[in-house]
Amino acid sequence: MAHGLSLVVLGALLLGPVQSLSGRVPGVEGRQIAPGNGPFGGGITILSDNHLDNKPKNGSAALLIHRQASYAAALNLCETLGEGLWNSNMAKFTDGLNNSLSYQSFIGAVSPGQLFWTGNSGNATADCRAMDIQGNTKPADCTLELPALCTQSAPVSSQANNTATSYLVNHQVGKQVYTGYRDAFVWKFRAIRYAAQPTRFEHSTLFEPNGATPIPALTSKADCLQRVGEVQSGSGEDCLFLNVWTPSLPQHALNSSQAAIKPSLKPVMFYVYGGGFTSGTSNNGNADGTNLASRGDVVAVTPNYRVSTLGWMAFDDGVHNGNYGLGDLINALTWVQKNIKDLGGDPEKVTIFGESAGAMLVRALLASPKAQGLFYAAISMSGPTGLSPNEHGSTSYYNSINFEFERTSKSILTKMGCWNATNQLACMRQVNATELIYIDNVANSLVQDGTLLTSRTLPLNSSTSGYTANVTFMTGTNRDELGVDIDPIPIDANLTDLFTRRLPGNVGDLSRFLRSPLFSPTSPSPQDILNATIRIATDALYTCLEQATSYTASRHNAFKEVYSFQFNRTYNPPGYTKPHCDAPKTSDRPNGDPDAEYFKCHAGEKMIVFGNVLRAGLKDRDGLDVRFMQLAVDYWSAFARKRDPNPERGYLQARGYWGTLEETERVGRWVEAKEAGWRLLQWGGRQQGVVEGAQCEALGLGVGYFEGR
Ligand SMILES: *[C@@H]1O[C@H](CO)[C@@H](O)[C@H](O)[C@H]1NC(C)=O
Ligand SMILES: *[C@@H]1O[C@H](CO)[C@@H](O)[C@H](O)[C@H]1NC(C)=O
Ligand SMILES: *[C@@H]1O[C@H](CO)[C@@H](O)[C@H](O)[C@H]1NC(C)=O
Ligand SMILES: *[C@@H]1O[C@H](CO)[C@@H](O)[C@H](O)[C@H]1NC(C)=O
Ligand SMILES: *[C@@H]1O[C@H](CO)[C@@H](O)[C@H](O)[C@H]1NC(C)=O
Ligand SMILES: *[C@@H]1O[C@H](CO)[C@@H](O)[C@H](O)[C@H]1NC(C)=O
Ligand SMILES: *[C@@H]1O[C@H](CO)[C@@H](O)[C@H](O)[C@H]1NC(C)=O
Ligand SMILES: *[C@@H]1O[C@H](CO)[C@@H](O)[C@H](O)[C@H]1NC(C)=O
Ligand SMILES: *[C@@H]1O[C@H](CO)[C@@H](O)[C@H](O)[C@H]1NC(C)=O
Ligand SMILES: *[C@@H]1O[C@H](CO)[C@@H](O)[C@H](O)[C@H]1NC(C)=O
Ligand SMILES: *[C@@H]1O[C@H](CO)[C@@H](O)[C@H](O)[C@H]1NC(C)=O
Ligand SMILES: *[C@@H]1O[C@H](CO)[C@@H](O)[C@H](O)[C@H]1NC(C)=O
Repeated sequence: MAHGLSLVVLGALLLGPVQSLSGRVPGVEGRQIAPGNGPFGGGITILSDNHLDNKPKNGSAALLIHRQASYAAALNLCETLGEGLWNSNMAKFTDGLNNSLSYQSFIGAVSPGQLFWTGNSGNATADCRAMDIQGNTKPADCTLELPALCTQSAPVSSQANNTATSYLVNHQVGKQVYTGYRDAFVWKFRAIRYAAQPTRFEHSTLFEPNGATPIPALTSKADCLQRVGEVQSGSGEDCLFLNVWTPSLPQHALNSSQAAIKPSLKPVMFYVYGGGFTSGTSNNGNADGTNLASRGDVVAVTPNYRVSTLGWMAFDDGVHNGNYGLGDLINALTWVQKNIKDLGGDPEKVTIFGESAGAMLVRALLASPKAQGLFYAAISMSGPTGLSPNEHGSTSYYNSINFEFERTSKSILTKMGCWNATNQLACMRQVNATELIYIDNVANSLVQDGTLLTSRTLPLNSSTSGYTANVTFMTGTNRDELGVDIDPIPIDANLTDLFTRRLPGNVGDLSRFLRSPLFSPTSPSPQDILNATIRIATDALYTCLEQATSYTASRHNAFKEVYSFQFNRTYNPPGYTKPHCDAPKTSDRPNGDPDAEYFKCHAGEKMIVFGNVLRAGLKDRDGLDVRFMQLAVDYWSAFARKRDPNPERGYLQARGYWGTLEETERVGRWVEAKEAGWRLLQWGGRQQGVVEGAQCEALGLGVGYFEGR
């Protein structure tokens, strides 16, 4: 899918060149490294008050040291981090630290009466002072053992630069120490290897290091080799890394005479990128996990997985069956199960979520018995579940290996000169990987391989045979997905040539629906023709079968609960160039007016659920973009926390998330799909029943589509 490609271009632009760190660990000599096995035992939480405006108030943040120590020892611990004790003379408690501490008490990390060491204006001879969660300070016995609040001077690290050489941390994960870093909001560990370099066309294997030397996890590493437009991205096939963003490093390795507070582990959000199965990267700045992890108080994880022919080519030898990229994700999830608690994440509360092809992979993980027990909830965002030119006419169904072999593998073998080889696999392992990704017909499809995917499609009826993960599922789309692929209509266009010429070429001729009064444009104006075209294509490729999925899954209890949504407020990310996907610019709202009509295209929800609109340098168009992002991040992280998108009142109050509290009380609960269908997500959202009902029926894709299949 062409639109997937621009994601990666964007990722590359935002991240800058990938730097190799082999052979050196930058900054190790600095005192900013807090040794994971040293006096902290690792336990440090970044307290930040993140309103997604990308401008934390000075003093709103602090570092909470879990270990309880005397005043002098606490001061020493802060200094080890290159900080001092947080000081009410230098920063205002109510600039956000009040929110952070009331929240720490709300989650039970500290008791309501807990005292913390804070500073005394840098006057070492003054009384030792301690502060409570209301911000009252008082002198305290210097030998008391208390957790400390250190200053937090780490800046917002830009997504253009992850090569910071200060604010480093050494932290043990499994048996290996990694060097990560801290910014204003979270700890970051980039490019942790989760699988050994895979053998081409084999499933990857989990990587479990136990080296004595810390491994730097400071910059992104290579994308999985792919072609983005005419450009190669990724340098090779050694690409199975993941990134972790976490608000809290748990303590470990304290000896029994050292007391420490013990914040509970946080839910994990594991994001699967899209890119049409042919491109994509965990390093895309739009899906940077900083804001989601910090505002949502979750641990965000983004893995790379193999794409294009290297990720999906199936042979007919009965052994090399494709689905390598899916196997990579299962390994990454296994890595999470084994290791994420060392980074503050709860392995029993893993939510997988993905966009576009990433949503299709989420759906595949739901259907994969090999992924059983690796996650407890799933979110599918903008999965193209609808019509497609594959074996079963819909991407909701997996091709057979035979079909896929005939459709793509044969021509790949031929083009690479391996068709007549005595050993096609051996021949394909010899070919130049760059040349392999540059041929036109590449593998980009899941297959029913009998191991990772054992059924033809995700079973949506709990009574039918086949594996479906017993988890909570949330699924949805944007209102006008296909606007992303359809060019503006020229002024002189006429109706007859439009549908055949402008729909994405691979779903067959939908032009007959033009004659249906259900779709026909209200006028022959280019805007109305464009609208009708986008509408048919969006219904056919996205909306209808998404609705059918939640309808049948709800009726037949395929999952614990099903929630569904439709975004009617989007922000078109940079690099997505269709002008009709942008809110129109007016003199009042020069950055776009979201109250006006525009197409809510594919990918337009992504920066919103990651809270990254301002982080990416875009403007709040109408004063509601930031508030809507706050709401979306609060919905998504509530779902990760308790498998229900409605944030608890007490949570919002404790954190001082007053904007979300006000809006959620105004718009009411987001209820399960079986009760009231889709949740309309916009400012002033609400439940809405089935949309495009008659249109979907006319397309043969009504809500009952999956019934009885
Ligand atoms: C925050 O305030 C402190 C104390 O006034 C000052 O030393 C520091 O430079 C300020 N930091 C920023 C980023 O303004
Ligand atoms: C923290 O203080 C600010 C400023 O006074 C206030 O708006 C906010 O409600 C307080 N937070 C909590 C959780 O009470
Ligand atoms: C430091 O505190 C001591 C004891 O409270 C006081 O006598 C002294 O004047 C203070 N020094 C400064 C520089 O504030
Ligand atoms: C990245 O950060 C380092 C250290 O702070 C700095 O020296 C370098 O100039 C930055 N690079 C970019 C591209 O911003
Ligand atoms: C345990 O911690 C205490 C207090 O920090 C320290 O004095 C002692 O040496 C430690 N013991 C061991 C075995 O590390
Ligand atoms: C394979 O070999 C056959 C017989 O020699 C030949 O006719 C055919 O062209 C070859 N195909 C390719 C793709 O090289
Ligand atoms: C692979 O092919 C590319 C493009 O033709 C070429 O630049 C590169 O040197 C080749 N690599 C090897 C290892 O032959
Ligand atoms: C799903 O898990 C719940 C417990 O969370 C259990 O009660 C239920 O029986 C399970 N359903 C299936 C179909 O396994
Ligand atoms: C529509 O445009 C096509 C060329 O794109 C032209 O061949 C055809 O005659 C036009 N039909 C009408 C009714 O104008
Ligand atoms: C969707 O958003 C547009 C503004 O872009 C608004 O005019 C329209 O009423 C919204 N749709 C619904 C169903 O509220
Ligand atoms: C598309 O047409 C529908 C139905 O007439 C209308 O509600 C919607 O506002 C139009 N969308 C745009 C972006 O013009
Ligand atoms: C669900 O599965 C059961 C058992 O196979 C079957 O009897 C029933 O007809 C199915 N329902 C639908 C709507 O597919």
